[in-house]
Formats: sequence, structure tokens, C-alpha cells
Amino acid sequence: MSTHIAAAPGRIAPIVLFPGDPRRAQWIAENFLDDAECYSEVRGMLGFTGTWNGHRVSVQGSGMGQPSMSIYANELFQEYDVQTIVRVGSCGALTEKVGMRDIIIANGACTDSGINRLRFHGMDYAPVADFPLLRAAVEASERIPLSSAVHVGLLFSGDQFYNTRPELTEPLVAHGALAVEMETSALYTLAAFHGRRALSICTVSDHLVTHEETTALEREQTFGDMIRIALEAATA
Ligand code: HPA
Repeated sequence: MSTHIAAAPGRIAPIVLFPGDPRRAQWIAENFLDDAECYSEVRGMLGFTGTWNGHRVSVQGSGMGQPSMSIYANELFQEYDVQTIVRVGSCGALTEKVGMRDIIIANGACTDSGINRLRFHGMDYAPVADFPLLRAAVEASERIPLSSAVHVGLLFSGDQFYNTRPELTEPLVAHGALAVEMETSALYTLAAFHGRRALSICTVSDHLVTHEETTALEREQTFGDMIRIALEAATA
């Protein structure tokens, strides 16, 4: 049993969908999985295992930010032998190339976090998605009828949600970053370290250029598209 998940061995599937919000984990389990059972409620960070199209799949809340997400990702890889994690999250658009509720499949992530600086002794590591998983997600997004546009591109995993100097992201946008969230860089780094597969798929929930925001209902509908892509990619 691990410290922060505390599920019995074998209760977590080799494939995990990984939203930040534990209530989203419950919503995914209730709406997409058959025979879902809750395996952990430690700190309210809910985790469930069920089946989707005959595949055993778990869904685990990660919390917000790279330190929280890293605790759960490390335990999933290390203690529960999880092979594939697909983050299903939200992000804030940094450019008008991306619209509200669009879906971004992250081929890589840059960061302002100290985590990779500590890990790589000041060198710049480039965290990237697992390519077969990325390809499967793109193929799924071409097959499934979706209500929003899909982009493959770079996320910025920032350590501050309330960024006091948003102009600092301008060079990242000039070099292709599409949107900001707070987890993907560390997730890709940990998956690489453990030799496992990770992919991050995010829906645009707010727009830092146009200042639009989604309603709760809109978020739920687009979230469903993202979950379908994630499930098809992870089980392909
Ligand atoms: N900033 C950081 N993380 C986010 C945002 C944002 O604007 N929106 C959704 N996740």
C-alpha cells in the first residue's frame, strides 16, 4: 500500500486516467466506466477502477500543480505498476490560435518550475509525450465526432495559477506554447524516468487573451469529448 493512495495491491488498473479534480474522477467513473469501485478516499483524492469496452481502467485525482500530481504519479508507477497515465485536464489558452473549449493534445511541455531544474542539475530537459499514445489520441480524435477543434502542441506547465507577471509567458508563446496548465511537464518527466507511457490532453476552460470563461455545463460537455479520446488512445 502506498502512502497517499493506500489501495491494496492489484486494485489499480495498468491504465489510469488522471484528472486534477477528484470529483471529476468520480464523474468519469460514473459516466464512462462499468462496475466502477472506489479504491481510495485518502485526503479526498478519489480513485476508482472499472472497465471500459472490456479494458480495466482506473481514474485517479491528481490535485493541482506539479508537487501534488507528482506524489500520485510516482505512487501509481512505483507501487501499483501502472503502465499508462493519461492526464485529462483543463488549461488556459495563451494565444488566439486556440479557442474556448478546444482540446489540446500535448506533444511536449515547458515549465517555470524548479522541479526539473533540481532533477537535472540546472540543465534544460525537454519533457515529451509517449509517441504511440499521442498518435493513438490524434487518430481517435479524427475518428470520433467532436464538438470542438483539436490541436497538437506545446503546453506551459506553470507553478503559479495567479501569475503576477503574465508577460513572462510571451517568449514561450512566441516559441509555440498554446496554453497554460500546471502538471504536464512533471508528468512527462516522471513517465520517462519510470519507463512508462504518459499523455496529457487538456480542454481550454479559460482564455488569457480574450478573457472568456466556460460555463460549468460547457466544461462538462467538452470534457466528455476529451475522455472519449483518452479512453480510445489508452486502450488502442
Ligand atoms: N492557468 C493555469 N492553469 C490552468 C488555467 C490557467 O489559466 N486554466 C486551467 N488550468
